[in-house]
Amino acid sequence: MARYCALIPGFSGVVGRGLARFLAAHRDWEVIGLARRPPAERVDFPVIAADLADAAACRARLGALTRVTHVLYCARARHTANAKEPIDANAAMLRNVIDAIEPAAPGLRHVHLLQGSKYYGADLGPYQTPAKESDPRIREDNWYYAQEDFVTERSRGKAWHWSASRPHGICDYAPGEPRSIAMVIAVHAAIAKELGQPLCFPGTPGNFHAHYQCTDATLLAKAIAWITTAPACANQAFNVTNGDFIRWQNLWPRFADFFGMQAGPVTTVRLAQVMADKAPVWERIIRKHGLRPTPYARAALWSYGDFVFTPDWAIMSDTLKLRQSGFGETLDTGKWLLDLFGHYRQARVIP
Ligand SMILES: NC(=O)c1ccc[n+]([C@@H]2O[C@H](COP(=O)([O-])OP(=O)(O)OC[C@H]3O[C@@H](n4cnc5c(N)ncnc54)[C@H](OP(=O)(O)O)[C@@H]3O)[C@@H](O)[C@H]2O)c1
Repeated sequence: MARYCALIPGFSGVVGRGLARFLAAHRDWEVIGLARRPPAERVDFPVIAADLADAAACRARLGALTRVTHVLYCARARHTANAKEPIDANAAMLRNVIDAIEPAAPGLRHVHLLQGSKYYGADLGPYQTPAKESDPRIREDNWYYAQEDFVTERSRGKAWHWSASRPHGICDYAPGEPRSIAMVIAVHAAIAKELGQPLCFPGTPGNFHAHYQCTDATLLAKAIAWITTAPACANQAFNVTNGDFIRWQNLWPRFADFFGMQAGPVTTVRLAQVMADKAPVWERIIRKHGLRPTPYARAALWSYGDFVFTPDWAIMSDTLKLRQSGFGETLDTGKWLLDLFGHYRQARVIP
């Protein structure tokens, strides 16, 4: 019998998928997924379909989940692919889950929120780096603040605690998930090579030289399991990254080597624009190399590539607090990205 029962709203998203997969394979955890749509691939745990924006539907669907001990909240509402997340809608979705699960699950012990470097304003312009969890909030309002204030207030005097993780640039082996920096780089490289071009860096010159960070989805899942079960981590937030800082300028020649290409210069483009008409090239690559066919729309989200490769300031979070809490796992981000490319190649997702 599992020790914990996790309800994972947003189990089919970039974060939720890795978290649900990791916990479902762990004997201490029972997993229940929650989203509006069924998962794209088969999963080994029960899944509930509900629109979190609908309070009555949440009460009706979650009212029978008496065994839930943990709500690991990975859902997010957004207007379009990379637009700013609406504050009120995201706050209401979380509130609807807690309103429904609190009376249903007497054993509720923990509610975990997924936050990110936007907490520090990393998406808005240069900010204080490396960002620490204790840094003051920025002036601009943010849906993370609304959710954090809600659980802080709501958990007061209750048997449950809250916590939050703040990852950045999450990615894992998930071909068919287009919001992945590894797939953006790999598909960009395959298309450039097919067109006889070198592997140019498509972002801004400042971005090429600035520090950046990523979080492996499985490392994040392990950290969340740690944070939500270690009593000393209760009611706090933790930065969660691979633990190192990269510069694309250092990795680009290694990537070019991997793909058997010359590394080209920084050639700033809007990927969403210049890659819009490259579906025929991708289809040609699939035929030529006998690849497993990933539809172009699911191969890489170019607007996400632009989001990652545009800022010309450092994106850095200090992960000391997590390490000092007792979670010590780290990854070499350059090697991890090269390993991901290797997995895609082995699975015949890329040439
Ligand atoms: N991805 C990253 O690189 C990254 C980096 C830092 C922080 N984060 C944080 O991690 C969290 C999750 O992000 P993500 O990238 O994993 O999000 P995502 O890929 O967009 O996934 C969102 C999930 O929420 C579900 N969802 C959305 N609206 C819903 C609704 N009304 N009712 C029920 N389910 C709903 C979606 O499934 P349906 O559409 O089927 O409902 C999906 O499972 C966010 O807090 C984000 O800020 C992510």
